Amino acid sequence: MVTVRAPATVANLGSGFDVFGIALSHPADIIHVEPAEETTITVTGAGSQYIPVNPKKNTAGVVAEALDAPATITIDKGIRPASGLGSSAASAAGAAVALNALYDKELSKEELVWIAAKGEEAASGEAHADNVAPSILGGFTIVSQDRITNIDAHLEVVVCLPEITISTRNAREVLPKSLDLDSHVHTVGSAATLTAGMLKSNPELVGHGLADSVVTPARTQLIKGYESVQAAAIESGAVGVTVSGSGPTILAIPKKGKSRSVASAMVDAFFSQGIQSTAYQTRIGGGVELYLD
Ligand code: HSE
Repeated sequence: MVTVRAPATVANLGSGFDVFGIALSHPADIIHVEPAEETTITVTGAGSQYIPVNPKKNTAGVVAEALDAPATITIDKGIRPASGLGSSAASAAGAAVALNALYDKELSKEELVWIAAKGEEAASGEAHADNVAPSILGGFTIVSQDRITNIDAHLEVVVCLPEITISTRNAREVLPKSLDLDSHVHTVGSAATLTAGMLKSNPELVGHGLADSVVTPARTQLIKGYESVQAAAIESGAVGVTVSGSGPTILAIPKKGKSRSVASAMVDAFFSQGIQSTAYQTRIGGGVELYLD
């Protein structure tokens, strides 16, 4: 039997739509795999009642099929689905790493990213690798066409998950189909600043580089209370705020030592809009951890 811990991730980071991602030190999914004649899937934990166990529809099942690695797969969800924290991606990434070890496939981590992206396609309709790449590789990742760049960054991060669900599929439907030149210049400037900030593990540069005038404004309309949560986070010590992945989780980059005050201000701001939420004081973390039994 093989067990893995697959971390939550934040994709996009505002300016890097479908390109940027980070792994979080927590929360995470725990996945066990055992060899079997055919794949079966059991899911427990956060939001498990909403996750398909049909192997053709479950991201881990699609990965087992793509790897030709049938298994009894047990997933304990630490990451609620439809959260914007890469829940389906974590299961796909964890399954890819676990099954690669179980069946001695000897695929590289980068090859596993593209296999796990096929699992993501089953969940969201498109095979983007911006969540599975950081879940497997850890740190900050840049997925640009078929190239993946991985940067080991060290930053505190706060993510606040409200009790609202948004599917990636729906959150992609609200996006503009084109952008003007000014927006392009703004986005490139932000993305370059964010990348420099990650290389220097500098929260101010990363916070500045979250700014995006194309994707984020279209999606904040889907998150009740976004503006007040954003304002509360900034007032209590965040240097930048944006939507995590396709939402509804909101990401804040706190100034050094301000995680706690930012997290509680975000929860309070959601509460004053009548919405319960959970804030994670976390940090950029490593990729899937493998335990051989
Ligand atoms: N980049 C994706 C989106 C996140 O924002 O739709 C899910 O991979």
